[in-house]
Amino acid sequence: MPDTHRVPNDLESFWMPFTANRQFKARPRLLVAAKGMHYTSHDNRQILDGTAGLWCCNAGHGHPKIVGAIQAQAAEMDYAPAFQMGHPKAFELASRIAALFPGDLNRVFYTNSGSESVETALKIAIAYQRTIGQGTRTRLIGRERGYHGVNFGGISVGGIPNNRKFFGPMLGGVDHLRHTHLPDKNAFTRGEPAHGAELADDLERLVALHDASTIAAVIVEPVAGSTGVLIPPKNYLQRLRQICDKHGILLIFDEVITGFGRLGPAFAVEKFGVMPDIVTMAKGVTSGTVPMGAVIARQFIYDAFMSGPDHAIELFHGYTYSGHPLACAAGLATLDVYQQDGLFENATALSGYWEDAAHSLRSLPHVIDIRNLGIIAGIELEPIAGQPTKRAFDIFLRAYEKGLLIRTTGDIIALSPPLSLTKAHIDQMFGTLADLLKAA
Ligand SMILES: Cc1ncc(COP(=O)(O)O)c(C=O)c1O
Repeated sequence: MPDTHRVPNDLESFWMPFTANRQFKARPRLLVAAKGMHYTSHDNRQILDGTAGLWCCNAGHGHPKIVGAIQAQAAEMDYAPAFQMGHPKAFELASRIAALFPGDLNRVFYTNSGSESVETALKIAIAYQRTIGQGTRTRLIGRERGYHGVNFGGISVGGIPNNRKFFGPMLGGVDHLRHTHLPDKNAFTRGEPAHGAELADDLERLVALHDASTIAAVIVEPVAGSTGVLIPPKNYLQRLRQICDKHGILLIFDEVITGFGRLGPAFAVEKFGVMPDIVTMAKGVTSGTVPMGAVIARQFIYDAFMSGPDHAIELFHGYTYSGHPLACAAGLATLDVYQQDGLFENATALSGYWEDAAHSLRSLPHVIDIRNLGIIAGIELEPIAGQPTKRAFDIFLRAYEKGLLIRTTGDIIALSPPLSLTKAHIDQMFGTLADLLKAA
């Protein structure tokens, strides 16, 4: 049994990430155990996980198969060098991940996080262009409001001002598409909005400005999550693909949150029927149990690197923990659980119920937009005048007191629970939120 009343004496040493440190340390919210759809708080309350941790625990918490696989791997082999050596589970997992993708998206490179996956994808894209004799193509195109992790490449192509403005000039040679949020036309859309496909034509404008011969790749989140859930307008991603094809630009989908069943199908690639050249992933690959990320590239990209003498390294990139044995064991067990427990199918089956429940909040005070797709919902609140983010943060604090974990970004509530959810969990989540919004 966990010691649920264990509270550390010293909260000061730990500089917490993306956290209001002073507020937290004055009123700590500590989680001490997790099982299924619930966390246990240090004051021994059950907290319904409305966020799958941080969009990652898609299989729910403490699944015995995943726990057992990690324990067994730790006992069998703790670590194997990632460079010039291999271990069987890294190869097995790569094949299993590739099997989740259509066509020739079939070459997997391991990382330890979403941020590292993004850096890896951007580097592969630039190096690929050079490898095929297009060395002038070094420019990267991201999108306003995009989130691609927190490393320098990711914040350079990203488009969230607070994640960028403190950190100097970042990467040179980056430009951005406009974001796709059109509240005047698309507010309260269920699923994919009708308006905005033409925003993909921004890429044509950037080609006209910079010339295609300078552009290596475009990176977008198929569904933008961290900025507050922006669903792509109908045909937007298809149009982006066409423009990339026309100009020899690689298309990268950052699927760190959309991957592993979040939208129903395994990846957004399948959900939208659009074939990118490179896909980043992390989080759900191990259901959040062991840090792991990966990049999958189309075979022609991999093949372009496979020249030169046999003994020569083809890509000068990698991490000590690329394909860590514990992560691979966790990943294999996680993919088994997704399949055996039918979790992607469950997400698909419940997405209509989820949508109805989300949109039932529409007429409540301060709700100015609701957006949803798969098992994702964003509920945008009107900010308190002069105090942006406060309204949503207060709801976050009160939801936690009432036994529900949500996530807020700006004044937007984002929900993304484990895919093992039931209708009763959905009722509890949106019922709690409705009570809080009515009382706000
Ligand atoms: C789309 C996207 N890319 C990258 C990342 C960064 O992942 P990590 O926090 O594992 O570095 C995230 C994290 O939420 C994300 O949503």
